[in-house]
Amino acid sequence: MPDFAELSLDGKTYQLPIVVGTEGEKAIDINALRDQSGYITLDSGYKNTGATRSAVTFLDGELGILRYRGYAIEDLAEKSSFLEVAYLLIYGDLPTKEEFATFESGIRRHTIVNEDMRKIFEGFPVNAHPMGVLSSLVCAMSAFYQGDNGKDDHLNIIRLMAKMPTMATWSYKKSQGHPINYPNNQLDYCTNFLNMMFALPVESYHVDPVVASALNKLLILHADHEQNCSTSTVRLVGSSRANLFSSISAGINALWGPLHGGANQEVIEMLEDIKADGGDSKKYIAMAKDKSSGFRLMGFGHRVYKNFDPRAKIIKKAADDVLNKLGVNDPILSIAKELEEAALNDEYFVARKLYPNVDFYSGIIYRALGIPTNMFTVMFALGRLPGWIAQWKEMREAKEPIGRPRQIYVGATNREYVAMSERFRFVEK
Ligand code: ACO
Repeated sequence: MPDFAELSLDGKTYQLPIVVGTEGEKAIDINALRDQSGYITLDSGYKNTGATRSAVTFLDGELGILRYRGYAIEDLAEKSSFLEVAYLLIYGDLPTKEEFATFESGIRRHTIVNEDMRKIFEGFPVNAHPMGVLSSLVCAMSAFYQGDNGKDDHLNIIRLMAKMPTMATWSYKKSQGHPINYPNNQLDYCTNFLNMMFALPVESYHVDPVVASALNKLLILHADHEQNCSTSTVRLVGSSRANLFSSISAGINALWGPLHGGANQEVIEMLEDIKADGGDSKKYIAMAKDKSSGFRLMGFGHRVYKNFDPRAKIIKKAADDVLNKLGVNDPILSIAKELEEAALNDEYFVARKLYPNVDFYSGIIYRALGIPTNMFTVMFALGRLPGWIAQWKEMREAKEPIGRPRQIYVGATNREYVAMSERFRFVEK
């Protein structure tokens, strides 16, 4: 492999260093290009721009490979726990027994959310979207745990991991008109979350281990996905040396959008619409192909996976298992299967390499677990939290420079200011 690429511009040749990753991924380092030549590179949506060197997650979109810190997602989803994966992502290696015990007990100890934060929460309207509430509360943590940016990072990581499930359940409880539940630190992470979601003071509640294990799997599958929209947001905000809480809060907002984490909610709403409209999946496939309809098949397509999404494979099987074990017969599952079948055999989707992504099936499992649709993206945020933290920590430890892209200006050139009294616009009739 050459050490540099040559670029000819305006009769001059520039040598641009080649960078190769541990999995053989190749890049051209254009850092010095502007200073040397006056040219920038233009790549809207950062479709072909590497923003960092990262050792957290490797994915190969063509081969459908996803690994956290070198471990295959299939192994982690089957054999590990969400907190073990969180430790792996954040600290780089699988924990020893002692390391895990310290990490887990730290998280158990910090699950209670400050009662003054509850007063902030109480000001939200009952129908507030839980993602807006969650991002606000996470940002508000920066007011309660001001600490030393840097010195207290470890403790703040534990606090955030511990308190997110507690805060996440509050919106749901409020939407039901039910009292919120406090955490029970005897319970493991997933069971504690489910208990805070569904337990009522008037009757005993037992978390079904099938449900807790499905949740554990879902959280692992969402735990990191290299430089996606929300993770890049977390790194970009953090690059200005903003604290952990405000950086993660920004990531939650980025995740909220329907083209990113909001897709799991949109998938269920789309499947429900199709069902209400008579269940004709062919009609919706035709609409998705017609650009003028403005309709996209939610849960299909991915910026990097162009053959299959390995998470979707695992989750599809998990959806079947959970629904069977819980005895749920959800009619929208058959609509989902029909849509998938039709799309995978349709020239439009095949040519554009559009396959079901992780969100096509995650919503179906969440629904079976009793989690309401507007909480789906919150579940995604819970899962993605350790990935955001790991990427934020990596960026800070590498002392990366502040993120600041360039642009090609396409607006008006220099104009002379005209006083308002003399200003008019000629409108042609
Ligand atoms: N339905 C119909 N057509 C689609 C879809 C879809 N879901 N996704 C992409 N296309 C088409 C586009 O119209 C475009 O067609 P063209 O080449 O004829 O113009 C082509 O496929 C490429 O699409 P882009 O939008 O350029 O692909 P991009 O990589 O920018 O977008 C994205 C990826 C945002 C995921 C897109 O596929 C999409 O909107 N999917 C639906 C939303 C979704 O499921 N998001 C979740 C992503 S996974 C996650 O965040 C965990």
